[in-house]
Amino acid sequence: MEKSALQIARAAYQPKLPKALQGPVVAKEGEPTQSVDNQEEIKALFPNTYGLPVIEFSEGQQPTTGSGEPMNVGVILSGGQAPGGHNVISGIFDGVKSLNPENKLYGFILGPGGLVDHKYMELTADIIDEYRNTGGFDIIGSGRTKLEEVDQFESGIQILRELGIKALVIIGGDDSNTNACVLAEYYAAKQYGVQVIGCPKTIDGDLKNEQIETSFGFDTACKTYSELIGNIQRDCNSARKYWHFIKLMGRSASHIALECALQCQPNICLVSEEVEQKEMSLDDIVKYIADAVAARAAEGNNFGTVLIPEGLIEFIPAIKRLIAELNDVLATDEAKQVSRDCQVDFVKSHISAENLAVLNSLPEDVALQLALDRDPHGNVQVSLIETEKLLSRMVGKKLAEMKAEGKYNGKFSTQHHFFGYEGRCAAPSNYDADYCYSLGYNASRLIANGKTGYMSIIRNTTAPAAEWIAGGVPITMMMNMEKRSGKMKPVIRKALVELDGAPFKYFAEHRAKWAKETCYVYPGPIQYFGPSEVCDQTTKTLKLEQA
Ligand code: FBP
Repeated sequence: MEKSALQIARAAYQPKLPKALQGPVVAKEGEPTQSVDNQEEIKALFPNTYGLPVIEFSEGQQPTTGSGEPMNVGVILSGGQAPGGHNVISGIFDGVKSLNPENKLYGFILGPGGLVDHKYMELTADIIDEYRNTGGFDIIGSGRTKLEEVDQFESGIQILRELGIKALVIIGGDDSNTNACVLAEYYAAKQYGVQVIGCPKTIDGDLKNEQIETSFGFDTACKTYSELIGNIQRDCNSARKYWHFIKLMGRSASHIALECALQCQPNICLVSEEVEQKEMSLDDIVKYIADAVAARAAEGNNFGTVLIPEGLIEFIPAIKRLIAELNDVLATDEAKQVSRDCQVDFVKSHISAENLAVLNSLPEDVALQLALDRDPHGNVQVSLIETEKLLSRMVGKKLAEMKAEGKYNGKFSTQHHFFGYEGRCAAPSNYDADYCYSLGYNASRLIANGKTGYMSIIRNTTAPAAEWIAGGVPITMMMNMEKRSGKMKPVIRKALVELDGAPFKYFAEHRAKWAKETCYVYPGPIQYFGPSEVCDQTTKTLKLEQA
C-alpha cells in the first residue's frame, strides 16, 4: 500500500497514556451502582452484571499480570466508522502484549457478523504497525449486525473457545454497547468464562453521560466538518451570492451541528432538540430561516450559511408521532411479509388518519424514507433524507410569498452540502489518537482485572493526557427501557443536546448576532504537529461542559 507523507510521519506518533496506565495498576472499586431508570426491570434482565461498582485505576506496585496464564483477546468494530478505531485496537494490542508477550489479539471481520460467522484474523505486530494513528476501520472492517439472539451468542462461543479467547472487546455506539452488555450477561449466566468489554465509539457524540465525557471520533469528525464549513464560509463571504444549506451527520442528536456552529459561527444552526421543545412545525422552521434571510437581504447581504442536523425531521413533534406509529406498524409480522413495492401502501392503510395526513403532506422522497425499512437497530435512516434540499426549497417558496407582500427584497440562490462520510474516517486528531489508544490500553487492564459487562472509560480529558483518569463503568448503569421495533427493550440511554447545558446556552446567547452580522470563524485543517494550542485543543462542547 502506497502511503502519503503524512501517513508515514504519523506512524511514528506515540499516543499519550494517562499516568495511571503507564505501569502496574490497582483497581479501586466504588459503591454498587443503579441503572439510570427502570431499575427493577434492568436488574431482572441482567442479574449477573447489574449493580457492579465503577472502577478507577491508579498506579500500583505489583506488575499487572492478569491470570498469569497466556490469554487471547478478540475485538470487534461495530456500526459506523469513527476516527481513532485503529488506535483503540493498537492500544488493546500493546496492553495485552504488555501483560504477556505470548498473548494474542484476534479481530472479527466486518463487525459482529464476523463473530457469528466465524470470520476472523490474528492481528500481529506487523499488521497493527501499518494502522497506528490512521483513520478508518479497514484493519478488520465494521458492520451493523445486531447481536441479540441466543443462536448468535452460541455460535460466538464456539469460535471464542476454538481460539482460546478469554475476553472480547466490542467497539461501538449505544446500540452496539447495549448488545455487548446483553452478551456479557449471557456468557456470565452460562458461566462460559468469556468477559465482554465495551468501548464508547461514535462521531454522533450521543454516547456520553456522567461517566463518559465523550465518544471517540466526535472530536476529529467535528474538526473535519468545521474545516469544510469554514472553507465554504470564506467562499460565501468572497462571492456574496449564495446561501449554503449544510446538513451534518449525527443521527438523532444535534451534537455535531452544535459543535460545528460553536467552531464556525454560521448564520443559522438548527438544533433538533430545541425544535422539539418549542413544538415547532416544519413551517415554523422555514419561517425562522426565511426571516433571517430577509433580515440579511435588507442590509444587502444575499448570502449565508445554515447548518442542519440530519435528525431534524424526527424531532418535529407531528413527524415524531408519525414515526412512532410507523415503527410499530413496520415491526408487525404482517408488515414483514409485505414486498418493498407495496410497503408504502401497506403502512398508509395501517396508520391513524391524523398521521396519514402528516405523511401525505410530506414531499414524496421524505415520506418514502420514513415509510421504508429501518436499520438493524430500528432507526430511521436519516442520512438518506435530503433535509437540506427540502428546507431550501421551502424557504425559497416562503421568500417568494414574502416578496409578493413587500416583506423581502433580495436574491436567494442556494448550494447544498451533506457532510458525514467525509469525516468518519479522517486521520484521528491528537486528542482522538491519545484518547482512543488509552481506551484500548485501559480495556486490557479491565480484562486483566477479570471485569465483564464494563465499558472502558477515560475521564478528565480537558487536562493533559498524563492527568487523565482511567477505569470502567458497568454498562447496566447507563441503561433504561425504551420501545424498539414495537417492543420494550433495555438500551443505553442516548444523550441528546441539553438545552440547559453550557454548549447550547453559549450558542443561544450568540446566535442572533451571528445571524445578522457576518461573524464567520475559519478553523482550518486539523494540525498534527506544531504548537499545543493549535494541535491539542478539545472540542468546544467538551471545554464548555467541563468549564
Ligand atoms: P454509529 O451510531 O454506528 O456510530 O453510526 C453513526 C452514523 O455515522 C450516523 O451519524 C449516521 O446516521 C449513520 O451512521 C449512517 O449509517 P451508514 O454508515 O450505515 O450509512
